[in-house]
Amino acid sequence: MCGELRAEQAGQDVVLMGWVNRRRDHGNLIFLDVRDRTGITQVVLDHEQAGEAHAKAEAARSEFVVAVKGRVRRRAAGLENPNMPTGEIEVVANELLLLNESKTPPFSPAEDAIANEEVRLKYRYLDLRRTEMQHNFALRSRVAMAIRNFLVDEGFLEIETPFMTRSTPEGARDYLVPSRVHAGTFYALPQSPQIFKQILMISGFDKYFQIARCFRDEDLRADRQPEFTQIDLEMSFPQMENIFRTAEGFLVAAFNAAGIKLTTPFVHMTYDEAIKNYGIDKPDMRLPAMVSLDDLLPPDLRTTLKIEQGLPILGFVIPGVGELSGSARKALLNEVRGGFGDCGLDLLDVVRLRTSPDFAPLADAISAALAKGLGVDALSPDDLITVVTPKLGTPAKWNHDPQWIYKRVGALRLQLGTKYAEKHGRFAKTGTESDFKFCWVTDFPMYEWDEEAKVWNAAHHPFTSPHEEDIKAGRLTNDKGAVRALAYDIVLNGTELGSGSIRIHRQDVQAEIFRSLGMTDEEAHERFGFFLDALEYGTPPHGGIALGLDRIVMILAGATSLREVIAFPKTAKAIDLMVDAPTPVSDLQLRDLHLRTVSRS
Ligand code: AMO
Repeated sequence: MCGELRAEQAGQDVVLMGWVNRRRDHGNLIFLDVRDRTGITQVVLDHEQAGEAHAKAEAARSEFVVAVKGRVRRRAAGLENPNMPTGEIEVVANELLLLNESKTPPFSPAEDAIANEEVRLKYRYLDLRRTEMQHNFALRSRVAMAIRNFLVDEGFLEIETPFMTRSTPEGARDYLVPSRVHAGTFYALPQSPQIFKQILMISGFDKYFQIARCFRDEDLRADRQPEFTQIDLEMSFPQMENIFRTAEGFLVAAFNAAGIKLTTPFVHMTYDEAIKNYGIDKPDMRLPAMVSLDDLLPPDLRTTLKIEQGLPILGFVIPGVGELSGSARKALLNEVRGGFGDCGLDLLDVVRLRTSPDFAPLADAISAALAKGLGVDALSPDDLITVVTPKLGTPAKWNHDPQWIYKRVGALRLQLGTKYAEKHGRFAKTGTESDFKFCWVTDFPMYEWDEEAKVWNAAHHPFTSPHEEDIKAGRLTNDKGAVRALAYDIVLNGTELGSGSIRIHRQDVQAEIFRSLGMTDEEAHERFGFFLDALEYGTPPHGGIALGLDRIVMILAGATSLREVIAFPKTAKAIDLMVDAPTPVSDLQLRDLHLRTVSRS
């Protein structure tokens, strides 16, 4: 292969096949850099020694496909290229075949980065030839294989579940497939294998997994594609810990396949702790947590500062920002103040804290508390300190709600963290173990209030078991907002990698949950009758999780979009620019499917 030859092979006869990465014509000598997915080798065509091959090389151009027969030779002293793994050698050709020509490509796969992503996606086959993309897909393959091997070794069975099925409630719209045979009916593509994997537990396959394709028609973002791949698993008779250990185990294997060693177990926190400390249910722990400054403030200072009772005073530090001038600080404050309403929002540093009219008497205590949160003895003048004090006379949208404050301050922490990411180096793209901060978030709320539709929705999905205590206390009917679910997420560097739960295994509880979500028994029966029936035939306690494979590989590749790690992805508008899908279909096809299109006025 083109990336394999080293000085040890000097003198050997070899055959290489690949693409012309670059061609340099020095008259009697022509150099072809020949590329395949393993790398690049320099091939020399000498007019004196191999006239016919040299003549063919004159016609060769970038991206022509060639076969070369020749002998490996050490490059002359001083001509080695230390930036190429094959840089110590070259291949002196005695034969050259031009296996195929290439039109001049719209961009050169030899270049590192092409700014125009639409062109990259339209000519995806050329884009995928780029070294970086070849690396990403080799990585993806290794990671998937490491996960599969780990799970098989742990006794999991890989079982496929259907693509043509009926709706699975994961909170997105379904992609539908019209039936030709049964006029007016549709299959839905699965948003996940959720119901099937639970049925597999009822069927006695106590450890199931699948590297499963899922389909969701939802608003797309850099970390969301309409089709994506989950590492999906389910276990019978599990403690939550069994599921955590299994997922940690395959993540260790996956990261190992990328050359990164992880230490387990990962950190755990409850949903409430995540909101209090990070203001979000997917904490990015590469940045220091928020710190509650409540205990430091004497009650009379609360009154002086007009802080509303029951609302938290929060501080956080973004380390290593550098000393900001007064005007830079003011500009930054103006930039981030939006949305805070009447909250007191101060951007300070250790020196300014001391002279702040509000906080001067508490400066030492506040900086000590923030330093403790950072795990250092004292803050440095380069650290940016943010303090938020929710004042009385709050605007209505706060709703006097501590959660609002936590979430708003959490969002500011991320905004400032991202802004100064490069400076303080804590959002490094790839590298060592310390760049990968995993955590488990547990005890999610069972229900989410949809203000627009005025209904309670399942926060995870409706098959998730509530805490036994909350069922017993009658909260399913009296106090939905307080019901906790046996649901958990795994989070890496602020990205939700996976979600799962212990499931409901009793038919009566499942029926009650459907009711609590506003479904009548008839509706529940219509949508999930088959599943409610199955639950009545000896269902073992079970639970599981699904992790996004694309997201794992994206983070490992140091990429910021799933499109870098999905071979043929869709754009943010759900279009495949290469094959040009979706497209209209012929009237004949529509007629077969008993469909007619109407234009929307
Ligand atoms: P959930 O809906 O949270 O759970 O999905 C699990 C994980 O799948 C990934 N993911 C996506 N990746 C790319 N593009 C998308 N559009 C997309 N949507 C989800 C995320 C997410 O964390 N059946 C449950 C799991 C279970 O309970 O076992 C489920 O699908 O990484």
